[in-house]
Amino acid sequence: MLKNKLILLGITGGIAAYKSAELARLLIKEGAVVQVVMTENAEAFITPLTMKTLTGRPVYSALYNPDAPGHFSATVHIDLAREPQMVVVAPATANILGKLAAGIADDLLSTVLMAVNTAECPVILAPSMNTSMLHNPAVRDNIAVLRRRGYNMADPLDGFLACGEVGEGRMIEPSGLLEIIKRKFQQAVDFKGLTVLVTAGPTREALDPVRFLSNHSSGRMGYALAQAAVERGAHVILISGPTALETPPGADFYPVVSAQEMYETVMDKLPTVDIVIKSAAVADYRPKGISAQKIKKGGEMTLKLVRNPDILKEIGKRKGNIFVVGFAAETENILAHGKKKIADKNLDMIVVNDLTLEGAGFNTETNIVHLLYRDGREERLPLMSKYELAHLILDRIKENKGKV
Ligand code: CTP
Repeated sequence: MLKNKLILLGITGGIAAYKSAELARLLIKEGAVVQVVMTENAEAFITPLTMKTLTGRPVYSALYNPDAPGHFSATVHIDLAREPQMVVVAPATANILGKLAAGIADDLLSTVLMAVNTAECPVILAPSMNTSMLHNPAVRDNIAVLRRRGYNMADPLDGFLACGEVGEGRMIEPSGLLEIIKRKFQQAVDFKGLTVLVTAGPTREALDPVRFLSNHSSGRMGYALAQAAVERGAHVILISGPTALETPPGADFYPVVSAQEMYETVMDKLPTVDIVIKSAAVADYRPKGISAQKIKKGGEMTLKLVRNPDILKEIGKRKGNIFVVGFAAETENILAHGKKKIADKNLDMIVVNDLTLEGAGFNTETNIVHLLYRDGREERLPLMSKYELAHLILDRIKENKGKV
C-alpha cells in the first residue's frame, strides 16, 4: 500500500529521534520513498548521515540551502510541501506543536509544515515529551487546536521516560506509527465520489431583535465529522448553526441560524447526497411569533412556543438510498430512546450520547457514545476525542452502507 508513496518525515529535537531511524527503515521496507527534514536540534540526537544512509536521499535542515539538488534554493520549503503524499513529524516536540498552532515558521521544518495543505496531504504528528510538559495547559491547548484544524495525532504512550520519570509522553513505537500511517493512506480515498451532508451546531430561535432560544451545542462533533470526511476524499456539505469554530478547509459551508432555515437548506441539498450525518442540536420549538420590537420587561411572562419541523424525520421519509445517521443526546434509558429514534425517524444508524457521563456531550473535546444500528446491533465506544470518533463513525458508515 505504501509502494512509491512519498512521505516527508520531519524529525525534531527529542530523545525519541532514534525511533525515527527505525520508522524510516520500516517505511522503506514497505516500498515508500522517505524524504527527511530535520530541525537543527534534531541533529543533536541523530545525525543527518544516518537518515541519508537509511533513506538514500539528501536530508534537509537549513531554510536556505543553495546546494539543494534539484531544488531552487529559495523555494525549497514549497517544493518539499507540495511533493509528498503524507507528512509525519516524529518525534514532535512541544516546540514544533506550539509553532504550528501559532503559525510560526522560523526554520525549514516549521516553514514546510505551514505550506502543507492538510486537506490534500494528511499530516501525522507524534508528540514526545515529559508528562508535565504534555499536561501543560499550553501544550494541551495546542494539541486540541491542531486536532481541530485537521492534524492527526499519534498519541504518546504511558511508560518509562528518558528523564527517569514514568508517565504519559513516550513517543508511540515505530511499528504502531507505521500502522497509523497505513490506515491513513487507506482512509485517504475511501469516501471519494461520495457526497456527505453534515449538520452541526445549535439553532437559534428568535424572540425579538436581540434575544433567542438556543442550546449548549458547540458544533465540535459535526465539524470534526466534516473535517474527517473531507480528509477521506468526500464532497462535504456542512450546514451549521452559529458556532465559534473555523470552517474545515475543503467543505462547502452553508451557515444558517434557525431550525426552519436549516430545514430548507437541508431539503434543498438532499437530492444530491449519499450520506447524511445529522449532528446538529436542532431546537424542537420556536417562539410562536417574533416581536418586531425589543420586548420590554413587566410582570410574569409566558412564552408560547410552536413545533419546528423535525428535519431528520423528514429526511427519513425521503431517504431512498441515502445512508442516514442521527444523533441523540439522552440523560436516561439511553439505549431504549436511541432504538426508538431509529424506528421513528427511519435511520440506518444513531450515535447516542450519554449526557450523564463526564467527557461526553456538549462543549467537550471528547465524547463517549453508543452506536446503534437499524438491525438491532449496538456498540459501546470508549472515551475518545471527537476527531477520532468522527473517523470511527465514518469507518462504520463505510462498513454498513449497503448492508443495513
Ligand atoms: N433533529 C432534527 N430536527 C429537529 C430535532 C432533532 O433533525 N427538529 C435531529 C437531530 O439533529 C438529531 C436527532 O434529531 O440527529 C435527535 O435529536 P434529539 O433532540 O435527541 O431528539 P428528538 O427527536 O428531538 O427527541 P426528544 O427531544 O424527545 O429526545
